[in-house]
Amino acid sequence: MSPEIQQYDPFVLVLFGATGDLSKRKLFPALYSLYQNNQLHNDFAVIGVGRSELSREKFLAELKESISTYARIPMCSEEEWQAFISHFDYTAVNVKDATAYGTLTSKVQEYEAKFNLPGNRMFYLALAPELFGVVSNNLKDSGLTDAKGWKRLIIEKPFGHDLESAKTLNEEISRSFNEEEVYRIDHYLGKEMVQNIEVIRFANSMFEPLWNNRYIDNIQITASETVGVEERAAYYEHSGALRDMVQNHMLQMVMMVCMEPPSRLKTEAVRDEKVKVLRALRRYAEQEVAFNVVRGQYSSGEINGEELPGYRSEHGVAPKSSTETFVAAKLFVDNFRWAGVPIYIRTGKRMPKKTTEIIIQFKELPKNLYFNKNNDLGPNLLIIRINPEEGMYLLLNAKRQGTDDKVVPIAMEFCNNCSDQSPEAYESLLYDAATGDSTFFTRWDEVSIAWKFVDPIRRAWDQTKEEIPHYPSGTWGPDEAHQLLARDGKKWWPVFGERESEVVVKAKEQPAIL
Ligand code: BG6
Repeated sequence: MSPEIQQYDPFVLVLFGATGDLSKRKLFPALYSLYQNNQLHNDFAVIGVGRSELSREKFLAELKESISTYARIPMCSEEEWQAFISHFDYTAVNVKDATAYGTLTSKVQEYEAKFNLPGNRMFYLALAPELFGVVSNNLKDSGLTDAKGWKRLIIEKPFGHDLESAKTLNEEISRSFNEEEVYRIDHYLGKEMVQNIEVIRFANSMFEPLWNNRYIDNIQITASETVGVEERAAYYEHSGALRDMVQNHMLQMVMMVCMEPPSRLKTEAVRDEKVKVLRALRRYAEQEVAFNVVRGQYSSGEINGEELPGYRSEHGVAPKSSTETFVAAKLFVDNFRWAGVPIYIRTGKRMPKKTTEIIIQFKELPKNLYFNKNNDLGPNLLIIRINPEEGMYLLLNAKRQGTDDKVVPIAMEFCNNCSDQSPEAYESLLYDAATGDSTFFTRWDEVSIAWKFVDPIRRAWDQTKEEIPHYPSGTWGPDEAHQLLARDGKKWWPVFGERESEVVVKAKEQPAIL
């Protein structure tokens, strides 16, 4: 949430895809947390829209099931529950048919009257992407967007599957909604520690002077998952890790780390600085892709003692699929601050750990003093942990107690979610959308430039006759991902958990220093 918080106005949320997975796992629990935290006042209503005919009772039973299973806040008393669900209703709509929106319109009006709402309407499309355009058109044609108050469209990713399709979608949407009314979700931007990057950088005088190519050697961003494709093969086979993770979440983190300080903490000022990073991001021509970008696909293997099948044996996946489940890349932001600093990113499924981390590796010092054979010293690292652990970790070098020349790595740690649970990304994003704060949503120019970066990579891979490299489930990707850094004389730093044994233990031997 930006400090430029606007007015929270009573509103109706029309939730398309109300019987889907995202609603159950994320959106209903987020609404419940906001309500429990008094961030949603008593003047709101949620009208769920789905394909299936469902009575209100059945819908409310599903709502309860979702909240008791996934909400981070425990179930409330029966009395409070009844008050909460009085705001919810459901209607089935064939969303492709503009004439079928009549019952939805009546429901919306009924709840606006019931809670005396002023006609502010928020439309959330938690739908298959091919429906985004048609639903947005039908909202206008059915008159649902002609309300007395504001109207906002929240749209899930993926926004298109390449630049052309994204442009078409954007044109379709812009018939019914202005750019300021469109809230494109990238849920990584709702994560506490992604939002915190800006604060860590711009509220601490000790980082900003060093945050450039004079002092930073390289940056590494890892987003690894232990899960495989799960039940999403129909989507993932056409998306792959490049479109699913790199085009959005990974590039968003690059922008947050590399942006210049905005002139003010105003939505457009922040977004302007972010988009400048994308404009300076070096785009690879198709023939440069093989050298700078690595893809991989998981084969069978083991994670935590469990035997797991390879991607090609997963339900719904083509037996000869060449969809990538892993991407690593070397990026450059060609501007004055970052020229020459490689930014290595990697993301993959079925890796040894679920973690998202950003590692800033500072340049090494001259070797004449402490960097000698007595000391096994590494460079200073600043590690920003995005999830599941949230926090920061600064790796320094200091003298070992009681020795003259032994210098050891020590760590300073800050944990963001050790004592208090952080809000879920969808809580902050829904709240921001309700208050009209679009800072942590993606603007059209960000989306389009991200596709310009990704499209040539996709084309290069679509054209190659080479077999996709494989990596066993439970490993850190194909060998090529390690060679990408080895070629530059660098290595991927171990992630949290793997690093713990080698660094924190040493740090604990030096408590007096901290
Ligand atoms: C989603 C992707 O956007 O992000 C998924 O579609 C991925 O494939 C997920 O699993 C990862 O999000 P998080 O918050 O668990 O890191």
